[in-house]
Amino acid sequence: MTAPILVTGGSGTLGRRVVADLHGAGREVRVLSRRGHASEDGVIYVRGDLLTGEGVDGAASGIDTIIHCAGSFKDDVKMTETLARAASRAGASHIVFISVVGTDRIPVVGFGRLPFAYFRNKQDAERVIAESGLPWTTLRATQFYDLFLIVARGLTKLPLVPVPAGFRFQPVDVDEVAARLVELALGEPAGYVADLGGPRMYRMVDLIRTYLRAAHRRRLLFPIWVGGKTARVIRAGGNVVAGPLEPVGTANRKTWEAFLTERLGQRYTASV
Ligand SMILES: NC(=O)c1ccc[n+]([C@@H]2O[C@H](COP(=O)([O-])OP(=O)(O)OC[C@H]3O[C@@H](n4cnc5c(N)ncnc54)[C@H](OP(=O)(O)O)[C@@H]3O)[C@@H](O)[C@H]2O)c1
Repeated sequence: MTAPILVTGGSGTLGRRVVADLHGAGREVRVLSRRGHASEDGVIYVRGDLLTGEGVDGAASGIDTIIHCAGSFKDDVKMTETLARAASRAGASHIVFISVVGTDRIPVVGFGRLPFAYFRNKQDAERVIAESGLPWTTLRATQFYDLFLIVARGLTKLPLVPVPAGFRFQPVDVDEVAARLVELALGEPAGYVADLGGPRMYRMVDLIRTYLRAAHRRRLLFPIWVGGKTARVIRAGGNVVAGPLEPVGTANRKTWEAFLTERLGQRYTASV
């Protein structure tokens, strides 16, 4: 009998899809979460906290493969260290980590005067995985559409919406990231694999405009210039998968427009 696969963050936006895909592939899944969840056939929830370490050894025991989707804006490193130690004690044979495109390019020194250590923390967490002594695979993905929906909703609460000038993104559908993680977890440890981004590159202003159209709302957008090294690297494309600015190929891939149609209903007909 094959051992269950442990998914940390299996209750989150990405992890939920990973769990569903593994379950669909007939694999037993164990999910680590700080909250209590009712277990179901083939999916066992174990309560644990990667910050305190509580419950983590229990969750990792008898596990071969781990998909590490738990994340937090500031505690990624500590959480990953806790997991890597427990995984080593349990004798795990493969740890798969989700990181973010740009960790190696985007500096720590903030947006304007705001410190912005997310990318740096992720890079340090990548290093924890690579130096854990465990066989590993790390996938860097761009931002999920779900995140841009939250951002767009938040920004457009304002009557006048400031949009960083020159920012481009290549967001991706979370189902595609989950499917890739599962494929990697069921394969051999591969170290760093090719970055995963969405099928199209968008200017920030177009992401917001398309959202407004889809939500049948009107707002006045105005460009703002964001200073600082991080913003400069983003304007230079440090946050997207390297490649040409034209469509990267949309066959069987979900675009931002298609995502919005799905989320905001049939009234919006996207021009995809
Ligand atoms: N969102 C994006 O656009 C994007 C892009 C690229 C990479 N990523 C990375 O992908 C990963 C998943 O992102 P997501 O958007 O799915 O995140 P999410 O929805 O915020 O989920 C975060 C998960 O982390 C778990 N978690 C947080 N603190 C924990 C702790 N102390 N102990 C145990 N579990 C803890 C939460 O579980 P409980 O609350 O149930 O404990 C939750 O399931 C993150 O590492 C993120 O940085 C995200």
